[in-house]
Amino acid sequence: MISDATKARFAREVAKYPAEQKQSAVMACLSIVQQEQGYVSEASEAVIAEYLGMPQIAVHEVTTFYNMYNQQPVGKYKLAVCTNLPCLLRDGGKALEHLEHKLGISMGETTKDGLFTLQQCECLGACADAPVMLVNDRNMCSFMGDDKLDQLVDNLRAVEGK
Ligand code: FES
Repeated sequence: MISDATKARFAREVAKYPAEQKQSAVMACLSIVQQEQGYVSEASEAVIAEYLGMPQIAVHEVTTFYNMYNQQPVGKYKLAVCTNLPCLLRDGGKALEHLEHKLGISMGETTKDGLFTLQQCECLGACADAPVMLVNDRNMCSFMGDDKLDQLVDNLRAVEGK
């Protein structure tokens, strides 16, 4: 299930660390698997664990600690709204609810067309910009009131011709 090309990418990451610390490449290996498969399955965790010589549970702990690793397939656009307390006090929960309503799904679900997955996330380090969210683990969106949320979803739908 992990191709030779993927293992070659693993090897490039492992080479960045002293031989006795190859486990330090675990996050990079998880990212590579996710780039290639869209998510990190238990089977992939097992392969990485064996490759890096570490217990599978230790790999799983990393996968589950960081929001950016998907444990199951997600939509093309992963929308993660911060619902930690400072954001909750400044409409973070309202933003999540608005998106649930707009997308017709509940937090943690994916739209039927496979376009959007809605999640909540931990503090993104931009509490003063609340409500804040991340799109596909990379694009930070600040001050996401209802209008900006609608605009974001509508624009992404338009890009996809939906
Ligand atoms: S609590 Fe939301 S960015 Fe810090």
